[in-house]
Amino acid sequence: MSESSILNNAARILQLVAAGTPADVALRESLTQDRHFTAPLERRSISRAVFTYYRWRRWLKDSDSAQKQLAAALALQERFNKDANSIKPEALAARAVPDWLKAEMDDVPVAWLSQLQREPVLWIRTKQGLESKVTADLKTCVPAGLAAYRPPSTAYRYTGLTDLYRTPGFQGGEFEIQDLASQLVGHAANPQPGETWWDACAGEGGKSMHLSDLMQNKGLLWVSDRSLRRLAKLKERAARGKVFNFRAAPWEGGVNLPTKTKFDGILLDAPCSGIGTWQRNPHARWTAQPTDVHELAAVQLKLLNHVAGSLKPGGRLVYAVCTLSRAETTGVADAFTAAHPELEPAPLSSLNSLQSSLVLWPQDLNANGMFIAAWKRKL
Ligand SMILES: C[S@@+](CC[C@H](N)C(=O)[O-])C[C@H]1O[C@@H](n2cnc3c(N)ncnc32)[C@H](O)[C@@H]1O
Repeated sequence: MSESSILNNAARILQLVAAGTPADVALRESLTQDRHFTAPLERRSISRAVFTYYRWRRWLKDSDSAQKQLAAALALQERFNKDANSIKPEALAARAVPDWLKAEMDDVPVAWLSQLQREPVLWIRTKQGLESKVTADLKTCVPAGLAAYRPPSTAYRYTGLTDLYRTPGFQGGEFEIQDLASQLVGHAANPQPGETWWDACAGEGGKSMHLSDLMQNKGLLWVSDRSLRRLAKLKERAARGKVFNFRAAPWEGGVNLPTKTKFDGILLDAPCSGIGTWQRNPHARWTAQPTDVHELAAVQLKLLNHVAGSLKPGGRLVYAVCTLSRAETTGVADAFTAAHPELEPAPLSSLNSLQSSLVLWPQDLNANGMFIAAWKRKL
């Protein structure tokens, strides 16, 4: 496909986005439904052009045609990839993120803003014991080198060009495509074989599959979400991954819980404003609003309050959000600690930390940003 036809197709997707479809959804829908784009390389080039446009949105001239703006964004990306210092810190602060952000974060490090302008990398998580097989089959896998968090041996950066979804290893459930920060949430939970856990906002089961693998498929994992569509996807994924030790039930997030079971551990991977995903999904920088931050912080606290009574004495509650706003991270964690004297903050020792809460920064991990906090029910 020629460069101009990539730009034309990317411009078509920008029109869909302007009409109200989020960029990742517009790309997924048009590139999987349109028979013209069967080659993975074409799909990748169009996606890259669209995401690059939103990454450099505030450097572009609105009066230019969409094609011209896309080409300018790709040129800026090229320049930045060669020399990150070619973009001044003041320009990053003024243009890489929306103006409201500063008031919502304790700190907006330049290193993070610079990371936001890089193209994201692809992380995979192998099942325990299949590390050598998967990396030998896929070939271009680099182990996560994260001395600070005691790197899991199952985390790898994939640097090849193969469409991983079509590989026999993926189809056979030998590995999952999962961001490194999300993998660290599973390790923060650190469930043991034979325990009983609840993944309360399980969604499509990215973290549930990991918890089950850490439990060696032994014990019981309750999974719930308010979206039945997502739970249905989770079940498909579990079948592919040969995950059997789970029980799924809908939960709206209210006081009526899906079960009266008391748990050794609960993971609440709560809905959030997603600021930590702005490198991978730059369009979200321009759609998120400060009102989302505050509304979601209230939802997160409510969900934590509702699950807290389901812990056994000594049981652990792990809270995770892929965002970096003060209200949704330390704001929620501090309010929850103050309201629950029956719980105590618990160190994240499986992540090599004495702290009971951690911010995982994209510039440290080359992955999404994440906040994790943990508590233990007093005996
Ligand atoms: C961050 S996502 C979960 C991602 C998932 N844990 C994973 O690793 O793939 C948050 C989930 O919370 C669910 N959710 C949103 N509001 C909820 C509520 N009030 N009660 C229960 N689940 C809710 C959403 O449907 C979404 O699947």
